[in-house]
Amino acid sequence: MSTLEPPPIEARGLRKNFRGRTCVDDVRFTVGPGRVAGLLGPNGAGKTTTIRMILGLAAPDSGDALIFGRRYHDLADPARTVGAVLDAGSLHPARTGRTHLRIAAARARVADSEVESVLDEVGMTDDADRRAREYSLGMRQRIALAAALLAKPAVLVLDEPANGLDPGGMHWLRQRLRTFAEAGGTVLLSSHLIADVQDIADDVVLIARGRVAAASSLQDALASSGGNLEDFYLHVTERAEVRA
Ligand SMILES: Nc1ncnc2c1ncn2[C@@H]1O[C@H](COP(=O)(O)OP(=O)(O)OP(=O)(O)O)[C@@H](O)[C@H]1O
Ligand SMILES: [Mg+2]
Repeated sequence: MSTLEPPPIEARGLRKNFRGRTCVDDVRFTVGPGRVAGLLGPNGAGKTTTIRMILGLAAPDSGDALIFGRRYHDLADPARTVGAVLDAGSLHPARTGRTHLRIAAARARVADSEVESVLDEVGMTDDADRRAREYSLGMRQRIALAAALLAKPAVLVLDEPANGLDPGGMHWLRQRLRTFAEAGGTVLLSSHLIADVQDIADDVVLIARGRVAAASSLQDALASSGGNLEDFYLHVTERAEVRA
């Protein structure tokens, strides 16, 4: 990709107020092609709100959230460009995993055979015909990830995708995102857990109290904190608390 092409993900001064309170405040960062970026921050920092704006699910009060230089709703084929995991708990309780994926496939104009392939990939083939209400959190998360991968998008935006996954699931997620990025894909994933980001991401965007407190490669973040991302996290978030 030439440097003239717009980046896969760009937040340009995003701001969001809820009832007069600024919850996302001038958030700006870029995720380049082939990178896995971790959006890390404490509970309530503004990660989900930022992700919702990137996915066109919430309108920013100011700023722009861009995918390849366009707002989500202006993408020619959003379902095939961006795969998303938002709230893994939000699968329709009466639908089976397979039905959920078939509906997503129809929406993205993807063949049913792809449904079987992603079910297999996330290890849910045996449980595919059980209703979502019977699924554990990790099983719902796997179905949500399968839905995100279904249309072979160029960009993945995942809100807390590691939440609920067992060690096998985490291992799979790490490998899968690595393969995805090595093939040129771009990932933004959020987590409030340092270990998730340390294990998976190339870049880290640390958000605290609605603001980007630090954004760098994981390597630089580690180098600036003696190899301990937790120290980096605590130092940067405490500094943000003092400033607020
Ligand atoms: N619909 C809403 N109405 C009012 N306030 C909201 C709404 N959505 C989010 N907020 C507020 O915005 C802030 C950021 O919330 P957000 O869900 O983005 O945080 P988060 O970083 O995803 O946290 P967590 O790690 O707990 O998921 C919080 O103070 C939250 O209370
Ligand atoms: Mg959240």
